[in-house]
Amino acid sequence: MSQTNSPKELLARIQDLEKQIKVLKDRKKFGLVWEDKPEEIVLGCETHVPILKEVKNRKLVSDNFSFNNVLIEGDNYHSLSVLNYTHRNKIDVIYIDPPYNTGSSAWVYNNNYIDENDSYRHSKWVSMMKNRLELAKNLLTDNGFIVCAIDHYELFTLGLLMDEIFGESNRIGIVSVVHKSEGRNQEKFFGTSHEYMLFYSKNKQLANFAKIVLDEDIQATFDREDKDGLFRLNNYLRSGGGDHNLRKNKPHFFYPIYVSRDLKNITLEKQKGYEEILPITSTGQELTWKTTKETFLERLNGGQIIAERDQNNKIQVYEKYRENQVIKTHWIDPKYHAIHYGTKVVENILGGKKFDFPKSLYLLIDTLKLTSTKNSTVLDFFAGSGTTGHAILELNKQDGGNRKFILCTNNENKIAEEVTYERLKRVIKGYKNKKGEKVEGLGSNLSYYKTDLVDIEKLQRISDESKIKITYQAGEMIAIRENTLNESDKNDWWQIFENEEKKTAIYFKEDKAKLPELVKLLEKENKPTVLYIFGWGKNEYKNEYSTKNIKVEDIPEPIIEVYKEINRI
Ligand SMILES: C[S@@+](CC[C@H](N)C(=O)[O-])C[C@H]1O[C@@H](n2cnc3c(N)ncnc32)[C@H](O)[C@@H]1O
Repeated sequence: MSQTNSPKELLARIQDLEKQIKVLKDRKKFGLVWEDKPEEIVLGCETHVPILKEVKNRKLVSDNFSFNNVLIEGDNYHSLSVLNYTHRNKIDVIYIDPPYNTGSSAWVYNNNYIDENDSYRHSKWVSMMKNRLELAKNLLTDNGFIVCAIDHYELFTLGLLMDEIFGESNRIGIVSVVHKSEGRNQEKFFGTSHEYMLFYSKNKQLANFAKIVLDEDIQATFDREDKDGLFRLNNYLRSGGGDHNLRKNKPHFFYPIYVSRDLKNITLEKQKGYEEILPITSTGQELTWKTTKETFLERLNGGQIIAERDQNNKIQVYEKYRENQVIKTHWIDPKYHAIHYGTKVVENILGGKKFDFPKSLYLLIDTLKLTSTKNSTVLDFFAGSGTTGHAILELNKQDGGNRKFILCTNNENKIAEEVTYERLKRVIKGYKNKKGEKVEGLGSNLSYYKTDLVDIEKLQRISDESKIKITYQAGEMIAIRENTLNESDKNDWWQIFENEEKKTAIYFKEDKAKLPELVKLLEKENKPTVLYIFGWGKNEYKNEYSTKNIKVEDIPEPIIEVYKEINRI
């Protein structure tokens, strides 16, 4: 085919080709590539900012617990946006169990159900996850963990995405959980019996697993506990019949150890009144200790050696033996079965099948045992039936902990109201199980919020009117940020929240006529207070109104800054 091109046309073609070469060169060389399908909920945040509204009649209060647990109903992109203002770097553990995108059980994207007929279903799933994981990362403490449940449908995409967002170097491990030991029936090839949990940290250098023993069989054989956890006693005497255990073959391993009569002091120096212990059997055979003197001293100084009397009242020297805390990556235990310890647990609490795929309660308990401390704040933003919240209540009961949870879920098929909330309410307050037996409540508090949107026209340029609107509606968000969840006063000028120890106040108006009155009111009670004062910019009122008890913060500018940042504006 002949083609006549004018020099102008040729130049245009060259320029076009150069552009294409640049695109090809700039293209990602390795990793996850997908067709980004913009998400309406994300785009909507350019003209509407998310806030929270409390549903007051759902508040649950138990004595002796400070206010802490939170359930947020709404799309989790909105909840995570709010949490970016309230909980940045404050969440110790995130556990999520997103829709698995199996094709057969649908999930919602841009108001449509996504199932196997949608040829973009993987792209949409990755877009949805990326939008949320990026927001979630900001919430983690520097030593925090994120654990994501998944099965084979999206394992590979999720792994690449997590590597991209959290960094391959922060990948802690991939655990396989046998959640259905009998396998999924009627499959042509494998009967799937396991799924995965992907563990990542915010910073692997700073993160640590708790020192616990997950395996109950092993746990049962431990007989002592100290500040570092469980241990067994291993005699320091090297036993066994081999020649290598004899004094004559290892003279360096034969030396006296001196123990005080009350067993409290152990030394290698001869001391008056101390008993001399040698590695000699009751029949007089001269054996050896497990190590040389030098190693023994190291262990003694490290608190690893203790002495106890045996049944014959003879002093024995022991080493504390701890199970090596390398948690295995294959979790196979009947207690992780999703039907027996997930579905049935929920059925028993709610009296009938109300939720399709809850996780085993014990799987969550063990995951949280490993990743949390007694004071951790734990977030689950695909909360479903609320297993994570239930596990925290159980775990706190078991170890006297004070862990708090934030659960976020949408209200698809009324799950937030009828499953998540109802389950937590019953677990906290007590309930009658399916057999009609009374199950004691575990206690605790819960506040229930719904996400809402404030129309602001355009995030790039927020009008003064919109700034005032945000301020009037930000109260509950601020209350959560300050952990003062009880509203104690509200009028046209201000709003006050409190807990047992502190107060939070918000002064709404540009007109500061009533501000001195509010300050006076707050000063009356000698409680530490954070006072949010409306202003057009930042730091306008800090000096004027800060006192010994009152710390001043700005509103709404810091909220707007967070929303601009997460929307990349
Ligand atoms: C697999 S389930 C989680 C089950 C949970 N781990 C349990 O043990 O009950 C995922 C849940 O996330 C919720 N969900 C899905 N997309 C969501 C979104 N964009 N925002 C909030 N919740 C969402 C669904 O309603 C569903 O209940």
